[in-house]
Amino acid sequence: MISIKNVQKIYPSKQGQVKAVDDVNLEISDGEIFGVIGYSGAGKSTLIRMLNGLELPTQGKVVVANNEVSKIKGSQLRKARQEISMIFQHFNLLWSRTVRDNIAFPLEIAGVSKKERLKRVDELIKLVGLEGRENAYPSQLSGGQKQRVGIARALANNPKVLLCDEATSALDPQTTDSILDLLVDINARLGLTIVLITHEMHVIRKICHRVAVMENGKVVEMGPVLDVFKNPQEVITKRFVQQVTEPEETKETTKHLLEKYPDGKVVQLTFVGETTDQPLITDLIRGYEITVNILQGKISHTQNGSYGTLFIHLNGSKEEVEKAIEFINKQQVGVEVIANG
Ligand SMILES: Nc1ncnc2c1ncn2[C@@H]1O[C@H](COP(=O)(O)OP(=O)(O)OP(=O)(O)O)[C@@H](O)[C@H]1O
Ligand SMILES: [Mg+2]
Repeated sequence: MISIKNVQKIYPSKQGQVKAVDDVNLEISDGEIFGVIGYSGAGKSTLIRMLNGLELPTQGKVVVANNEVSKIKGSQLRKARQEISMIFQHFNLLWSRTVRDNIAFPLEIAGVSKKERLKRVDELIKLVGLEGRENAYPSQLSGGQKQRVGIARALANNPKVLLCDEATSALDPQTTDSILDLLVDINARLGLTIVLITHEMHVIRKICHRVAVMENGKVVEMGPVLDVFKNPQEVITKRFVQQVTEPEETKETTKHLLEKYPDGKVVQLTFVGETTDQPLITDLIRGYEITVNILQGKISHTQNGSYGTLFIHLNGSKEEVEKAIEFINKQQVGVEVIANG
C-alpha cells in the first residue's frame, strides 16, 4: 500500500542544510496500522507529510495507493489526496462551520451532490459516535469530540490510507484511549491502512502492528510491536519501551530489594505472548519447597500479544531455589536474578 524508497529530505537553513529525513526505506502493507515513534525533531512529521505530497522528497520515491506521490502534481495530486487522508494534533477544523458542515466539506470539494452528502455525513457521524452533536460548532466540543470530527472528515471520501500526525497528543490519557479504540475499530471495519506518528510508546503499544523508531532523520529500528518490546536493540528503543513496561520506580525498587531481602533471590521474570497466561507462580509453590513473594509487576497488551515483567522473591534452601529457577528457565519465560541472597 505504501512504499518509501531511499527517501531523503533536506531543508536549507542559515546554519547549513538540515537533513530532516535521511535515506528512509519502508514498506507498509494493506490494512496495517504502522507506527513511527521518535523524539522531537526526529523527522516524523516531515516523513508523514511526504506521504500525501505536502512535502516533496529531495531524493527518493514515495508510492501510496498506487500513486507516485513524490512525482505527481496539481489535479493528479489533489485526486490522490482523496485516497490519502490526514488527521492532526490540533484538529484543523473550520471554526465557523458546524460538525455536520465540517464533515461535509471534503465532499463538497469532491463535487458530491447535496443529497448524497447528507446521507454520507449521517453515516460518518454514526461511525465516529457523534450522534446528537451534528449542529454544534467546534468551540462547543471537547478535544476528543473535535478529533472525532477530524476523523469523520478524513474518512468522508473513503480513503485507503489515514495518516495521523500526533493525533492524540493534545488529549488526556482517557480520551486518547477512546480515540485509539476508534482507530482500531475503523481499521478493522474498513480495512483502512493507518500510519501514525507519536512520541508516546503507549500509543504504539495499544494499536500498532509494526513500529519504526526514528532518530536524526533515520529509521534506526523496525519490527512487529511485540518483537520490539521483547527485544529492543537500540538505546533509544529501550528508552521508549521502558515508558510502558517499567514503572518509574523500578530502579529504586531494585536497589531497595537488595537490602530488604538478604536471603533467597530476587528474580525478574519477562513474559511474552502466550506465556503471560500460564500459572507459573502456582507451579513454583506446588513444585518446590520455597516461598514466593510477588514484589512488583506489569503486563502490557499489544496488537500482536502481551508482554510483561514481574519481580518475585524466592526463598528456601539454596538447592530448592536453584531448582525453581531452572524450572522457570524451561518455561519460555525470561529470568534474570537481580538480587542474590
Ligand atoms: N520547513 C522546514 N524548514 C526547515 N527545517 C525544517 C522544516 N520542517 C522541519 N524542519 C527541521 O527538520 C527536522 C525534523 O523536523 P520534523 O518536524 O519532521 O520533526 P518531528 O519528528 O515531527 O518533531 P516533533 O515531534 O517535534 O513534531 C527538525 O530539525 C526541523 O527543525
Ligand atoms: Mg512533528
